[in-house]
Amino acid sequence: MSTAHNKIPATLIPGDGIGPEIVDVVERVFDALGSPFAWERHQAGVNALERDGDLLPQATLDSIRQTGLALKGPLTTPIGGGFRSVNVRLREAFQLYANVRPARTIIPGGRYDNIDLVLIRENLEGLYVGHEHYVPIDGDPHAVAMATGINTRAGSRRIAQFAFDYAVRNRRKKVTIVHKANVLKALTGLFLETAKQVATDYEGRIESNDRIVDACAMQLVLNPWQFDVIVSTNLFGDILSDQIAGLVGGLGMAPGANIGEHAAIFEAVHGSAPDIAGQGKANPSALLLAGALMLEHKDLHAEAQLLRVAINDVLATEAGRTPDLGGSVSTSHFGDLLIDRIRG
Ligand code: NAI
Ligand code: MG
Repeated sequence: MSTAHNKIPATLIPGDGIGPEIVDVVERVFDALGSPFAWERHQAGVNALERDGDLLPQATLDSIRQTGLALKGPLTTPIGGGFRSVNVRLREAFQLYANVRPARTIIPGGRYDNIDLVLIRENLEGLYVGHEHYVPIDGDPHAVAMATGINTRAGSRRIAQFAFDYAVRNRRKKVTIVHKANVLKALTGLFLETAKQVATDYEGRIESNDRIVDACAMQLVLNPWQFDVIVSTNLFGDILSDQIAGLVGGLGMAPGANIGEHAAIFEAVHGSAPDIAGQGKANPSALLLAGALMLEHKDLHAEAQLLRVAINDVLATEAGRTPDLGGSVSTSHFGDLLIDRIRG
């Protein structure tokens, strides 16, 4: 366990909506784990906009630049007004090129048991570069809409290498490269060609195959157990990662990590859930599982394991489940149950 001397500085962003409630649970649970991180609290999201006039204040960016490590509650993106998504701004500011979304069945008896797969999504390129415009015709300013996707060999190699290295580090067996190279021959053909080249460097250690994205989506429903690690481009990865979250009980259970060379930001996949904010109904599991990924990222495997076992044990009984999972335990009481379990 960590002592006060070797605490790792990390930025903590409570965020909007249910963010502060679930971040409060994370803070208390991490204290019970021996407080491995020295949190620097900073704001982002609508609460920051109302206070400082900026969705992503400079002080928050400076803190992440220094710590290189952040745990982020969900942020509300105001609709209209030309605001760019804070999540996209953070990915670009810190060049967080890899989005890692592990999905594991924790509560048995759902639609699919024993799911254990990881989606790795390219986070900076593809159709998400924002090169979009309209072409006006005959007085209709929006007669034609155009978007340009950009994939680079360097970016494709970087994400493929990340996926195969991840597989080696985490004792995974297989990486599936997901693409649409039969139609988008240049854009995703380059990705497929580059990722297959990378795969040859891992021959004998990590098995590899490829799937066209639409067939992959169907196979994920018919037989998800055939997959281990999946690597894909930005848009396909976005879609498949939500689909995969659905295999293991939905948004309340899905963590994500955004990884770059110099910084890593951990978060839940879900948003700020304004419909249940402030009611003590939010499930903190996804953000806690993001915390477990953050512990593992810093090689704090004993703490991560303790946290994962506590989450599994508390969720194993109906008395330990929040309303989204069919139970009636409150957000903060769920935290108390975890802390009791951790303290033994
Ligand atoms: P959402 O994920 O906030 O909510 C969708 C549904 O799932 C709601 O019914 C909500 O109550 C439920 N839900 C979500 N998380 C839950 C949890 N931990 N426990 C129990 N129930 C949970 O998605 P929505 O409503 O589309 O977006 C709300 C806001 O969040 C928007 O402003 C959106 O832009 C933002 N958002 C932010 C994200 C981030 O910061 N990473 C990701 C997705 C959305
Ligand atoms: Mg998404």
